[in-house]
Amino acid sequence: MAALLLLLSLPLAVALYHVYYRLRFRLPPGPFPWPVVGNLYDIKPVRFRCFAEWAQSYGPILSVWFGSTLNVVVSSSELAKEVLKEKDGHLADRHRSRSARKLSRDGQDLIWADYGPHYVKVRKVCTVVLFSPKRLELLRPIREDEITAMVESIYHDSTASSGKSVVIKKYLASMAFHNITRLVFGKRFVNAEGAVDKQGQEFKAIAINGLKLGASLAMAEHIPWLRWAFPLDEDAFTQHGARMERLTRDIMQEHTLLRKKTGDAKNHFFDALLTLKDEYDLSEDTIIALLWWAMAELIRNPRVQQKVQEELDRVIGTDRIMTELDIPNLPYLQCVVKESLRLHPPTPLMLPHRANTNVKIGGYDIPKGSNVNVNVWAVARDPAHWKNPLEFRPERFVEEDIDIKGHDFRVLPFGAGRRVCPGAQLGIDLTTSMIGHLLHQFNWAPPTGMRPEEINLEENPGTVTYMKNPVEALPTPRLAPHLYKRVAVDTI
Ligand code: HEM
Repeated sequence: MAALLLLLSLPLAVALYHVYYRLRFRLPPGPFPWPVVGNLYDIKPVRFRCFAEWAQSYGPILSVWFGSTLNVVVSSSELAKEVLKEKDGHLADRHRSRSARKLSRDGQDLIWADYGPHYVKVRKVCTVVLFSPKRLELLRPIREDEITAMVESIYHDSTASSGKSVVIKKYLASMAFHNITRLVFGKRFVNAEGAVDKQGQEFKAIAINGLKLGASLAMAEHIPWLRWAFPLDEDAFTQHGARMERLTRDIMQEHTLLRKKTGDAKNHFFDALLTLKDEYDLSEDTIIALLWWAMAELIRNPRVQQKVQEELDRVIGTDRIMTELDIPNLPYLQCVVKESLRLHPPTPLMLPHRANTNVKIGGYDIPKGSNVNVNVWAVARDPAHWKNPLEFRPERFVEEDIDIKGHDFRVLPFGAGRRVCPGAQLGIDLTTSMIGHLLHQFNWAPPTGMRPEEINLEENPGTVTYMKNPVEALPTPRLAPHLYKRVAVDTI
């Protein structure tokens, strides 16, 4: 009987706490939160679209309750500036779910760390050692090797059966996988037959398992007093950690042996990146997602595709292939990348920031411990700042030189402020180079029987936004056959 009473009084206590909380703070408006679950069941799967719709009714700052956790979503450039610049110091922590806590050893990495001395130290390694212009330049041959390998593979498949469309994602995923793993681990995970080798398979399996473990408790996470009913599978986390350590140790040993043999320290990120291992999925996924969107827009807009190709032919000609060194001379191509990032930011709600104290945004109270999301997808489509915002028109970046790396609050694909993406330049270089190669070396058309405007641009739910329907396209080579050979460089 006593247990039953306790069970019944628990939701009541939670409801009373909610009333107190709402009376004490002047919270941003939002849809009515139901007891216990808040708005969890009202949120549509593609969250950034749902929040943008709600912003039409409630205004550019919203309260959304994930169970008993308050999530504030801002959708205007002015409020984004307040969150990411003016109040950045109070909003630079991260919310860690129980699984994120386990996977990151309670924020001992970069991505899940709260803002503080540990974060500053790891971040410094990131910017000074890993993402410095000098290091990015040293790693350029690896990026170009992988891009030319991708081009060779598309060429092979498209000439083997002419008139047959290809699924672009297949090539992008393989390229991004090899690119990121080579930058990070300093080696290409392939066997003698050219397929992903055992270590590469293990790396992929670990990454997928990490995502599964991270997602498995998503619902229980939002209702803390119900957590006892959803205990963490400690064994699964321990096994996952052990697998990661084993792979890391094996690769480290290879590096040590090689260093002893050659006396040479190659330009990979590996040693310094050991602390950052959980981030790989994010960066690999963001690049694939972005390229996928950019290619879809270019196939939908033959005018833009042709204009990029004219620029490429004028600057590079048709007797050689592009290199990253050509990028400064290809301003229109750079604008295409910017426009793709404006319309299709791969992480439309960025990653949530957490308030480390009570703070005011847009005149509303944001209590300590709340999460704050910037809907960068909505911000970059705001008709108050963008003319015909839904149109894919790279020329807007020719007409006005707009920064996309966190200095202009109208377009924030990489975030801004203390937690701005440290890989932004690398992401931009890679995507610009890839789109350049793909357009210089091929013409791209929709599959036979489909009109360009019929390409479906719906999104799938998820932190990283992919297209719902994989783009299929018909590539036709534009250059002489000898220009489609992979330009391989040393693998370790
Ligand atoms: C097109 C490519 C990319 C996009 C659009 C992108 C976007 C983002 C965004 C929006 C954030 C969250 C910022 C915030 O919370 O305020 C982020 C964080 C991060 N990104 Fe990227 N990213 C890309 C590529 C990369 C690459 C290539 C790397 C590294 C190899 C990388 C590493 C990271 C890391 C480590 C963080 C966490 C930073 C922190 O918490 O302080 N990203 N990225």
